Amino acid sequence: MNMKEIIAKKKRGEVLSKEELSFAFNGYLKEEVPSYQMSALLMAICFTGMTLEETYHLTDIFIKSGNTLDLSTILYPKVDKHSTGGIGDKTTLIIGPIVSSLGVVVPKMSGRGLGITGGTIDKLESIPGFRTALSKEEFLTLLQKNLFAVTSQTEDLVPMDQKIYKLRDVTGTTESLPLIVSSILSKKIAGGANQILIDIKVGEGALVKTMEDALKLSDLMKRVASFYNREVQTLITPMDTPLGRAIGNRIEVLEAMEVLKGNVHSTLAELCIQIASHMVSMGKKIPYDEAKEQVAASLQNGKAYQQFVTFIQSQGGLLTDLSLSENVQVIKSPTTGKVTKVHAYKIGELALSLGAGRMSLEEEIDPGAGIYLNKIVGEEVKEGDTLFTLYGKIPSSLSIEEYYEIN
Ligand code: URA
Repeated sequence: MNMKEIIAKKKRGEVLSKEELSFAFNGYLKEEVPSYQMSALLMAICFTGMTLEETYHLTDIFIKSGNTLDLSTILYPKVDKHSTGGIGDKTTLIIGPIVSSLGVVVPKMSGRGLGITGGTIDKLESIPGFRTALSKEEFLTLLQKNLFAVTSQTEDLVPMDQKIYKLRDVTGTTESLPLIVSSILSKKIAGGANQILIDIKVGEGALVKTMEDALKLSDLMKRVASFYNREVQTLITPMDTPLGRAIGNRIEVLEAMEVLKGNVHSTLAELCIQIASHMVSMGKKIPYDEAKEQVAASLQNGKAYQQFVTFIQSQGGLLTDLSLSENVQVIKSPTTGKVTKVHAYKIGELALSLGAGRMSLEEEIDPGAGIYLNKIVGEEVKEGDTLFTLYGKIPSSLSIEEYYEIN
């Protein structure tokens, strides 16, 4: 067996055996296969795809590359949640406290930002003192006590994904559906939850650009998860426009807190209520409508917010200083009309350049950098009204039309 043959076989669209996949991927993990050959194989997979069986085998190879977490000592229902990523997606910060306030454990292992999409870990680390590098024991103790904890992906959990994801990110191979399935499912299965809700984002600001691909991804996720007796439910939700009004880290924490305080009249709040209700319905095995009533009550009676405060404090966070960058620039509308589009991708890039994300993995994030969208899609705007506000490294010039369409 050799890499050159394996790459050529996949390039011709042939099926690779588990042994061949293991030779290539485990070889790369052990640094016996160079990254140029792994990049070529990933690109061949992007072009010719994988069968269901190959995708299952690859997921298995990913899972077995590290340790798994055993949550069986926690005697509550456990429902994990994953989003395929988007601009302004702070849903974990809102959903975790709601769902856990209703007696369902949310064991959340999250990542940092990649590309232009932000990561939950970076958002939480923008809270002074908040610790995300929990040991396995600490994570389990916090789940037992609070039913919700967030930890960064530890080195020993699916190390294959950590290595392959970085390579995919810089070789234009992030969009392959079988590669997305093995990346996400391996982490969820190794993370120990028996029920998983996956929010598949579709649109210009998402990894998955078309509804056709989103449906294929959903089907593939469910089929592969069934080999592990895990229940996967999927939602397909739009990502053409940023989610909510805040894009950045601390600024997103502040927006999440508003929703948790019961400010629920927004698309962001509606999406969080929808996802949380599905998770409560799955965990408690109750009808969706009943779960939705419980979710609404938790937001209204302050339980969800209190749960958020407990979660933050238990991981060392201080909610007393959540200030934003002092470098502020207000962008005014050049015209009167209705906002018909806010370009998610461009807004994501802008947030990155302000300091809210990293251009390279080594770069430091400015926790107070970000964007607030004073006007969002569907809202009326008059010439001279504030369209959006920038915090952080302010650009010397900016062309509003690249970000907003007003008609
Ligand atoms: N999120 C992941 O963790 N992996 C992917 O491949 C895509 C989104």
